[in-house]
Amino acid sequence: MAKETPRATVPQHVAIIMDGNGRWAQKHHLPRLSGHEAGRKSVKRAVQAAIDHGVRYLTLYAFSVENWQRPREEVQGLMGLLRGVIREELSEMGKEGIRLRTIGRKQDLPDAVREELEAAIESTRGNTRLDLILALSYGSRVEITEAVQVMAREAQAGQLDPEQIREETVEKHLYTRGIPDPDLLIRTSGEMRISNFMLWQISYSEIHVTPVLWPDFGEKDFSLALDDYAGRDRRFGGV
Ligand code: FPP
Repeated sequence: MAKETPRATVPQHVAIIMDGNGRWAQKHHLPRLSGHEAGRKSVKRAVQAAIDHGVRYLTLYAFSVENWQRPREEVQGLMGLLRGVIREELSEMGKEGIRLRTIGRKQDLPDAVREELEAAIESTRGNTRLDLILALSYGSRVEITEAVQVMAREAQAGQLDPEQIREETVEKHLYTRGIPDPDLLIRTSGEMRISNFMLWQISYSEIHVTPVLWPDFGEKDFSLALDDYAGRDRRFGGV
């Protein structure tokens, strides 16, 4: 793939709500899992596009806390897919300088997936070209609730003065500590909702919604989203 010249206003952090795998499968008269398998190829394309454009952080909403309620077969299929991706892409991540990270309730994941994931996180820790952050068993409300619990415990133990709690204090207790907020949030498949994704962190993100279903999302669509972002006037509440 031809390397593109980085644009003047490239978002440092792009977050994507990858939606529409099920509808894509339905459209092609295939089982839902085939939609997720096709979605996996889009993940590869998005990662490559992020690298080519000079994006530094890419967060992908791969599995929400709510997704555990899906049929057992689909959940197992998704977990298998995730394990396969980690195993098969690990050496590529090394070559491309990708650091794998996660946000979410990692403890909910099946042991085999969690162990594979932890090993990949550890072995890519030193990479600095792109931080690929997978949101797994992620929910924004549970993230904030857990942060409040920890802060309350710290206050009770006398380690945290409630009067000294600042926005930065809250940020340090979120899964995303140390990661800058997304500049651009992309949602595929045309739905105009946030679905419990990074509610705190997207306070000032630019939002790009595309009707393209996730398995059809490619380099061109990524580029279009960046063009859209580059044309925005970000004021962060100022004038
Ligand atoms: C939403 O489509 C997508 C998901 C819940 C799963 C995302 C998973 C992948 C893209 C594949 C694997 C990726 C990694 C990182 C291992 P949906 O099923 O809600 O679609 P629908 O709304 O059309 O039914």
